[in-house]
Amino acid sequence: MIKTVRGVHDILPEEMTTWHYLEATARRVFSGYGYRELRTPIFEKSELFARAVGATSDIVEKEMYSFADRGGDSLSLRPEGTASVVRAFINNSMHRLLPWRVFYMGPMFRYERPQKGRQRQFHQIGCELFGPEGPLADAELMAMVMRFFAEAGVAGNLTLEINSLGCPVCRDPYRVQLLAFLTAEQERLCGNCQNRMARNPLRVLDCKKEPCGEVAQRAPHMRDHLCPVCADHFSGLTAHLDRLGLSYQINPRMVRGLDYYNRTAFEVTTDALGSQNAVAAGGRYDGLVAEIGGQSTPAIGFAMGLERLVLLLEEGRVVDPVATVYLVMVGEEAQGVGLSLAERLRSAGLSVETNLAEGSMKAQMKRAGRSKAPITAIVADREVTEKTVVFKQMADGTQHTVALEGAVDHVRSLLQTLS
Ligand code: HAM
Repeated sequence: MIKTVRGVHDILPEEMTTWHYLEATARRVFSGYGYRELRTPIFEKSELFARAVGATSDIVEKEMYSFADRGGDSLSLRPEGTASVVRAFINNSMHRLLPWRVFYMGPMFRYERPQKGRQRQFHQIGCELFGPEGPLADAELMAMVMRFFAEAGVAGNLTLEINSLGCPVCRDPYRVQLLAFLTAEQERLCGNCQNRMARNPLRVLDCKKEPCGEVAQRAPHMRDHLCPVCADHFSGLTAHLDRLGLSYQINPRMVRGLDYYNRTAFEVTTDALGSQNAVAAGGRYDGLVAEIGGQSTPAIGFAMGLERLVLLLEEGRVVDPVATVYLVMVGEEAQGVGLSLAERLRSAGLSVETNLAEGSMKAQMKRAGRSKAPITAIVADREVTEKTVVFKQMADGTQHTVALEGAVDHVRSLLQTLS
């Protein structure tokens, strides 16, 4: 028996209603802010991610699905979307069209330890905005994220957490200070943090292990070491958020696992999913376009994890019926008449699920009930002789016998009364 790879799942037709709902909500909300969809390839040159996400990040060091293709190039399945969007921005000379606003959706791949809300193939919907430099853009982007959650119906237990990660001017001296502090506390840190401390001291701040958490509480925070430009940006952002009436929490320990961020970083967290509590995350990456070889362009964006949103929505999930009409056909002649009737209904724009297996009236009616179609059409011997069809409204059981020619009009008027 061949099974799926660990950490990878089928998304079954019953679950697709929720996925389509989230995707449609994202398309509607994001286009209301001027964003248009971009589709980038699922795999890219490995070097793109090493340069964008950071050669010493966990994602690039331990989590990428990389392989050599037949020509010997090292390629990787994308672990995230921002690097590809930046590459597309540069390759297609989009600096001529600033501001450039795009959204994307699709699978991402990371070799992580699977658990609830964490897969090896997972799906993101993300947005990236190129051009604007000031905190107004950051505030509008966050308003858009929170509007998405409100319209999707999952805003209830979510918190918007924000922080500033500074810029190279203030972060480099801060790193030196932080490293000195961590060196003095080295013995108390977990093994992983001891190893990565020198290369990436900021990551120690968001380590989930307890001894590190306690050390991080006492560590110097970036926000107290911002240069005047970064400090102004952050206070501008909080002022805009206040004016918009968006509630947020400042989390000085948030550092993010990707190296490209500067200034604004944010996460939207939930208390309903255990340790994998970030449903969306993002921030500013003003240096990345130049880092990948383009003309220096400020940018900001975020991505949200669809599997986590599906988990949040699961309880209130509505399973849509496959079709509007379920067609029951009893007897060989009825099947002939029924199949043509189904084609006529479909030509009129109605969806029809036909009972293609043999079976008694009782068995077929049972299947009709299970299909959740609001209307069942029945053709049996009597209807064949009389050239009629019986329509049953499943909600209250009312039945009407209608001449075959009048079938389309009858279903239409039934649907009108139902809605
Ligand atoms: P990220 O924080 O790595 O950021 O991922 C964003 C979101 O994707 C997470 O908050 C989470 O909801 C979801 N996610 C990440 N990994 C997994 C996983 N293994 N299983 C399930 N869900 C997951 C980025 O990817 C950045 N590219 C976001 C960004 C866009 N920053 C600027 N623009």
